[in-house]
Amino acid sequence: MRTQVAIVGGGPAGLLLSQLLAQSGIDSVVLESRPKEYAEGRVRASVLEPATVRSLRDAGVGGRLGQEGIVLDSLQLRFDGEDHRIPIKELTGGGNITIYDQQEVVKDLIRARQAAGGRIEFGSEAVGILNITSERPMVRYRRAGEVRELECDVVAGCDGYWGISRSAIPSDACNVYRRDYPFRWLGILSARADRDVLTYASDERGFLLWGLRDAKLTRAYLQWPPNESAEAWSDKRLWNEIGMRLGRPDIGDSPQAGPIVERATTTLHSFVIEPMQHGRLFLVGDSAHTMPPTAAKGMNLAVADARLLAEALEVWLRLGRTELVEAYSSTCLRRAWLAEHISWWMTWLLHRSGDEFDHQLQRAQLRQITESGVAARHFAEWYLGPDCSS
Ligand code: PHB
Repeated sequence: MRTQVAIVGGGPAGLLLSQLLAQSGIDSVVLESRPKEYAEGRVRASVLEPATVRSLRDAGVGGRLGQEGIVLDSLQLRFDGEDHRIPIKELTGGGNITIYDQQEVVKDLIRARQAAGGRIEFGSEAVGILNITSERPMVRYRRAGEVRELECDVVAGCDGYWGISRSAIPSDACNVYRRDYPFRWLGILSARADRDVLTYASDERGFLLWGLRDAKLTRAYLQWPPNESAEAWSDKRLWNEIGMRLGRPDIGDSPQAGPIVERATTTLHSFVIEPMQHGRLFLVGDSAHTMPPTAAKGMNLAVADARLLAEALEVWLRLGRTELVEAYSSTCLRRAWLAEHISWWMTWLLHRSGDEFDHQLQRAQLRQITESGVAARHFAEWYLGPDCSS
């Protein structure tokens, strides 16, 4: 099989890239190791920045997002036992967050690609990315037990942190940056137990993120003890804990606060590889950078990378001009490092480490955000990402 752009990985980055390339008349094939049902069911974060919403709309997949996405014009910070509303829309001159789950974005993109006759090869696991410094790269993949080859002009590595793409860059041709955080989360989903509100709470019992995934589901993340299993606590005890960290001890008694339908623990890490390109291989999204979900940046960065790569490839493959592909890695990494920074900073700001000096610094910064207009604006713009004002 042959195509112009071989896209390894059918998450938001790979699917959006193939959709944008198709809009520019560039042919691509998406290789996704999992079956379609799995790709559509992977639960991830759900906070979209304004620029992400615009990119999805421009890509022709803004319809359901516009109808079902929940728009929030503020978020809440909770510390020292008090809630503080941060009016992000007002602070940024019009920027909102949109709650729309990553798997819904994936479903919309799959539908759009398939309706347009786009090629997504589910159940196709990339096993080798070859000849990337030649003009004829090739992806070797396994499908139904048989090894096949996809020849192309360019490979886009959109297969995430655990994928094979980034290992195709020789270790002496890149720098890798890592950070492990000494915190762990328990993530839960339950039937919707509250109104449309997204709260980041720094409580003496630990961090709590309290929000929503869609019209029906509540999402919560709790800072979780290092050796505790996800199943260790009963639903009742968890609701009790959430109520205490939220300062609303009755939250578990609301009729909607039903059974917890999903629980999973996660450890927090950051990873960046630089450059994001080697020869004709370009890394997109999580294959190049990951971060703790504290500031919900992962999918927003994947969308930003995919958009930049689509533009750069259009100018290169159609017009023969290389300036955008040459700038691709540094342009993406500028944004990625800002996202790494806010993810690192919010993680540090909101978690309890037991260190009293850190705790006093955290309180000072949290107070500054709620008391100084400049600090609040800085936080709101940083949280909403570049180009956030509409
Ligand atoms: C989520 O919906 O999973 C989510 C929301 C906000 C965050 C992180 C994750 O900051």
